[in-house]
Amino acid sequence: MEKFYLTTPIYYPSGKFHIGTAYTTVLANTIKRYKKARGYDAYLLTGTDEHGQKIEQVAMKEGKTPQEHVDKMAEEAKKLWNLMEIEYDDFIRTTQERHETVVADIFDRLMEQGDIYKSEYEGWYCMPCETYFTERQLVDGKCPDCGREVKKMKEEAYFFNMKKYADRLIQFYHDNPNFILPESRKNELFNNFLKPGLEDLCVSRTSFDWGIKVKKDPKHVIYVWLDALTNYITALGYGSQDDSLMKKYWPADLQLVGKDIIRFHGIYWPIFLMALGLPIPKQIYAHGWIMMKDGKMSKSKGNVIYPEPLIERYGLDAFQYFILREMSFGQDGTFTPESFVERFNFDLCNDLGNLLNRTIGMLNKYFDGKVEKYCDANKELDKTLENYAIGSIAQVENEFDTYYISNAIAETWNLVARTNKYIDETAPWVLYKEEKQEELKSVMYHLVENLRKIAILISPYMKHTSNRILDQLNIPENLRTWDTLHTYDKIANIQVTKTPDVLFARLEKEQEIEAIKGMMK
Ligand code: MSP
Repeated sequence: MEKFYLTTPIYYPSGKFHIGTAYTTVLANTIKRYKKARGYDAYLLTGTDEHGQKIEQVAMKEGKTPQEHVDKMAEEAKKLWNLMEIEYDDFIRTTQERHETVVADIFDRLMEQGDIYKSEYEGWYCMPCETYFTERQLVDGKCPDCGREVKKMKEEAYFFNMKKYADRLIQFYHDNPNFILPESRKNELFNNFLKPGLEDLCVSRTSFDWGIKVKKDPKHVIYVWLDALTNYITALGYGSQDDSLMKKYWPADLQLVGKDIIRFHGIYWPIFLMALGLPIPKQIYAHGWIMMKDGKMSKSKGNVIYPEPLIERYGLDAFQYFILREMSFGQDGTFTPESFVERFNFDLCNDLGNLLNRTIGMLNKYFDGKVEKYCDANKELDKTLENYAIGSIAQVENEFDTYYISNAIAETWNLVARTNKYIDETAPWVLYKEEKQEELKSVMYHLVENLRKIAILISPYMKHTSNRILDQLNIPENLRTWDTLHTYDKIANIQVTKTPDVLFARLEKEQEIEAIKGMMK
């Protein structure tokens, strides 16, 4: 079985996760489920990034030790991923021993190799991002990543000799043009950081204590990015007694990150790996951000929205459908209560829900709920629909394979719309009146078969809806798999339910918009 190793960033457990942080994980889970459906041995890693000054400060404010704070937050994170039914294979915490000992060893080794050296650092420090910037990197005198105030600071520190590897990285970019997706992000990294000449990276701190100590110089703690990035390999047992997972899964096939942290993953991470003599991940995909009408989510604006109340009120499937559909490949998307309610009512209730209900209703009325076997009595109309669906499925696969998830969803909804159109074209109620049995059977066959196909296509991100459709149609287990999608000869002797249940109940628009607004904090 071919392997597929997929990672999310490890999240800072500084506060509750909002829908933006949940997005990377939903995306990762969708890709994992798709890959599994396509026969891969897919392995998904997630976790929490628990060291650093910010965590220390948050814990202090809460009157807790950093360890108490991160223990509580890691549990909260797991609770949320359980609620969201995230099928992760491992959850790494950077305070776990399996991580800490290996990171300390790696630091030592890099020092011995001469890749890490001691010096003094003076620069502009952004506290929330825990990153130093040079004067040139600042944007209007502020942090180029988060736009907040920076402070001039000086300290003794260890540095990683990035310059030594810059040419190799440039060559790597050149030889692997699809290493960073989308291409615009790669060009940005290349033009803004590699071309002007890479600065060496500060990899230790003396200004705080909550981190992994440098073994030979314990007043230094290891700078959070060298610590954080290595999670992707320590979780696989790199540098430990049992590195069988490392042998099996490394290099990663896909590492998902938000656009704000692509610099760390696209530049420093491959260089650390080069220094360790390890293969570089196959692809890094930088996705955009979920924005609100008035810009970024922030507590001070009171526009932060969390996954839990949305899931509780509208269900997991609708929540996932919305955030995946609204976020185009690599670009930002906007969350508005209006668009959420609209997509729910139009896409889910009208387009998909009605297709199922109409089909089951007609089938019960005309044939007592039974579909016998394939036929194509409507000739042209049937063949056109079949060709459309086969083309559409190939397109959905292609979009999934290149991680254009919102396109894969849009294409699936094209198939839903095309199937609804087929009902209008064939007018089964007329066929019934005119007693055209064969034609009517053929229409019903095609409707049930297309619904079966649609249910399988949505299964990576709408598991429950998928199962509810397949259950109501009484599709046997062996016809619920991805490999049964590509032809029309599959179903026979199907008896659909007599009591269809509504997939998505229509929302009262104004009331729900207000309800969602009320969820914002
Ligand atoms: N701890 C680092 C990552 C280390 S990985 C070795 C970190 N953590 S974070 O919690 O701040 O962010 C985690 C992820 O959430 C990032 O990929 C970030 O882009 C993503 N998002 C945070 N807000 C977001 C939105 N509003 N929308 C989409 N993703 C967002 O960075």
